[in-house]
Amino acid sequence: MCGIVGYIGGGNVKKVLLDGLKELEYRGYDSAGLAVLQGGRISSFKAVGKLVNLVNKTASFEPNGFAAGIAHTRWATHGKPTEINAHPHQGEHSFVVHNGIIENYAALKDDLIKKGARFISQTDTEAIVHLYEFFLRKEKDAKAAFGRTVEAIEGAYAILLIDENLPNMIFFAKKGSPLQIGRAQDATFFASSDAPLIGLCEEAIYLNDGCWGWANEEENRIFEGAVAVEYAPKPLPATQNSAQKEGFRFFMEKEIYEQTRVIGDTLMGRIENDAVLLDELPEGFLEGVETLRLCACGTSYHAALAASYIFERTAKIETRCEIASEFRYRDPVLKSNELFIAISQSGETADTLEALKKAKLARQKTLAVCNVDNSSIVREADAAILTRAGIEKGVASTKAFATQVMALWLLALRIGKAAMGADVYKREINAIRRVPAALAVRSERHEQIRRLSRRYLHGHGFFFIGRDLFYPLALEGALKLKEISYLHAEGYPAGEMKHGPIALADDKLFTIALMPGTMLYDKMRSNVEELIARDSTLLVISPRRFDAADDFLPIDERDHPLIEFYEMMIAIQLLALEIAVRLGNDVDMPRNLAKSVTVE
Ligand code: M6R
Repeated sequence: MCGIVGYIGGGNVKKVLLDGLKELEYRGYDSAGLAVLQGGRISSFKAVGKLVNLVNKTASFEPNGFAAGIAHTRWATHGKPTEINAHPHQGEHSFVVHNGIIENYAALKDDLIKKGARFISQTDTEAIVHLYEFFLRKEKDAKAAFGRTVEAIEGAYAILLIDENLPNMIFFAKKGSPLQIGRAQDATFFASSDAPLIGLCEEAIYLNDGCWGWANEEENRIFEGAVAVEYAPKPLPATQNSAQKEGFRFFMEKEIYEQTRVIGDTLMGRIENDAVLLDELPEGFLEGVETLRLCACGTSYHAALAASYIFERTAKIETRCEIASEFRYRDPVLKSNELFIAISQSGETADTLEALKKAKLARQKTLAVCNVDNSSIVREADAAILTRAGIEKGVASTKAFATQVMALWLLALRIGKAAMGADVYKREINAIRRVPAALAVRSERHEQIRRLSRRYLHGHGFFFIGRDLFYPLALEGALKLKEISYLHAEGYPAGEMKHGPIALADDKLFTIALMPGTMLYDKMRSNVEELIARDSTLLVISPRRFDAADDFLPIDERDHPLIEFYEMMIAIQLLALEIAVRLGNDVDMPRNLAKSVTVE
């Protein structure tokens, strides 16, 4: 998602800004830009695509001496990823960068246009700079004008603004999007996360929501409303390495914990006024689509399979699921009224890419659901929905899965709005809004999983069982476990156990049963009791206490299966992690596996 860097000082402003953006690159973006105020003049540069394009554009720009600069990587929400929509956005004499969404921008924009402002982009951000200049004309005082601007905007934001008439000064404001200020001798730095600041300063001020202010070469002034406040700086991590893991033992652990945040990124700008917007789909793209074919590998395939239950149940659209390596060499009947959806974290998985090409060759309409913009799969597909999970470093995929399921759930609502009726649509939107909170890891639950993982180190195998939506989740639980623990694990539809696998049941067979309260609880209960009768060691994950199990992991009582799904997902991810840690394995880089599988 978007990133912000700012700098005031006598050092190499261009290098500080570009290096800072580089540190934020992992978050994903589709364009970048910077603006430097020096000698009463602002120079601004923007480029679509990778940061290297901005580096090339600024190659002959060599500012030296004292300067103030702001820079940004943008992940498009309002308006396509074009150079015009890239930040910084400019008014007549000031430039702004912004993370987040200005919810009342449309009303502000209309009003400002009536007052003579000339907008050139499709972004919500541009309203900020015109509003500031409007208030400045009225107030004749820049600080008051910026304060009034902050009062007038609604939504989530981290903002930096510079004005040609105010040398060496940066205005800032923060609400709902991260922003911190670092100070070193004779220099002030801004960034939307620690990474750009590390190595440049030792401490940072982490701004609270609702504050605003300005910094110049001498001081920072911070306000909450009209009241001046002071925040104590906190020490920054000493090295980039620890900063990236942010205190967690492994990237995988950090990525499990950050799911509560990144799912918010997936949703950003995609639900407005109780309706799903997927602006990235071209006009008319879904017209004529009568069936769906989802295609992927590994964890992405599990997301696809989970989504197939959502599409059919909620959107009432016929949906098939394909493992890409199988699809490639089959002779499937591919019809032109079918939308082919390739799902991939990396966007580079060879089998998925080739499957996509096969669908295109058959003249199917194609869509990528992907975490990496400009990847091969995104470029190949007719349209793309980016999952916005940020870079995923752990080889065992976690947050990519969570965001894929969410992106597909949104698509189901977009496709099936008419078929599902207003009440169901409303109920689904309401449930989606509750997912970020359901994904927050609770320390007592993590601790419980850490402790009970001791029992599950030595057996002759694991079965993860579930029904309906929870069957793909069972597959995913088993995949996570085998990838990093090297223990044999299978995901199985619970109702199928008695058709063969139950022959394996004994006390050395570990069964992880996913028993949601909202769906098929009694059916699951019967399947689980069949295993108990055969002495299988049993871990039940459920909102309903189950005393006959050897271990019981509670989730909250919920009223929507997908909220239970997400809460159980956290539990199975942490279980795999803790078992692998106890076994002393390299959690982030398990043997024999690569993050991106670019060969057949
Ligand atoms: O990048 P992709 O989503 O296309 O990758 C597909 C699989 O290789 C991937 O999900 C793999 O199974 C992960 N290691 C699972 O944790």
